[in-house]
Amino acid sequence: MKNFITLNDLPDLHKAVNLAKSLKENPYAYEVLGKQKTLGLLFFNPSLRTRLSTQKAAQQLGFSTMVMNFSNEAWALEFEDGTRMQGIRSEHIREAAAVVSQYCDMVAIRAFASLTNKKQDEAEIVLKSFAKYAKIPVINMESATGHPLQAIADALTIKEHKTKHRPKIVLTWAPHPKALPHAVANSFTQMMQVQEADFIIANPKGYDLDKNITKNISVLHNQSEALRNADFVYAKNWCSYETYGKILKTDDEWMVTKEKMNLTKNAKFMHCLPIRRNIVASDEVLDNSNSLVIDQANNRTFAAQSVLKLLLDHA
Ligand code: CP
Repeated sequence: MKNFITLNDLPDLHKAVNLAKSLKENPYAYEVLGKQKTLGLLFFNPSLRTRLSTQKAAQQLGFSTMVMNFSNEAWALEFEDGTRMQGIRSEHIREAAAVVSQYCDMVAIRAFASLTNKKQDEAEIVLKSFAKYAKIPVINMESATGHPLQAIADALTIKEHKTKHRPKIVLTWAPHPKALPHAVANSFTQMMQVQEADFIIANPKGYDLDKNITKNISVLHNQSEALRNADFVYAKNWCSYETYGKILKTDDEWMVTKEKMNLTKNAKFMHCLPIRRNIVASDEVLDNSNSLVIDQANNRTFAAQSVLKLLLDHA
């Protein structure tokens, strides 16, 4: 594996999840593998879990880490070739990626969708430009269209908590006051495509995800019907994909509540965090012992460690 931009870069998703599980059992099994190597973490957007868990993962493999907030600390980057750089963008990706490659042995990048231009977002200009011009492996810490580290952590969490071979798992849209990207929902869906599970997506009309990602998956527009007899409920907001970047619904009708969870088979509740309480899900749902949100965040460390180890093995 040369880069980790999407889940498709993994040689085998199940093996990556199993590696994450074994690293959780023995986090320091490869504590010198990354010795004298440096992981750079570049953030174009805020983070709590990704920033800390990826650093922790790297440190458990012996790496040193360097973190930079590109949004307010670095020169604004130009990604277009052949442009006359007269505006606010002071540094071209060609130089920036080459320079970062001298200081680091791997670089992890977070760069969210703009949600204003679907074509540009889907081109993944930041991640793909770094992958093109850097001389080191590039790791996706959430891009415009995917959050594959989150999906590995979610797969591990489900593996740890499932009590039957083929659980019913529902990804349900939930409300949010801000327009949020599709990255988490996309990667969760891609990950679920290869799991032994009855997987359903529930979202209001107008919120269907990219059909290239949801192909072969049932999408219901009735949340209660979808939740019936579920073993896992994964809540997540995303903005409209069809009316790109727009919020079409803000009322509480789709909030995950205790009453909604009562429709399930005593389901486990999942969310990638951060979560807006009593908007996305009620306090009762989050504070219930069936909530796995803190377990998911913990598993982010071992998901990242698994990916770093696979990249080191390839180096
Ligand atoms: N789930 C997740 O990626 O959290 P952060 O945005 O805090 O990193």
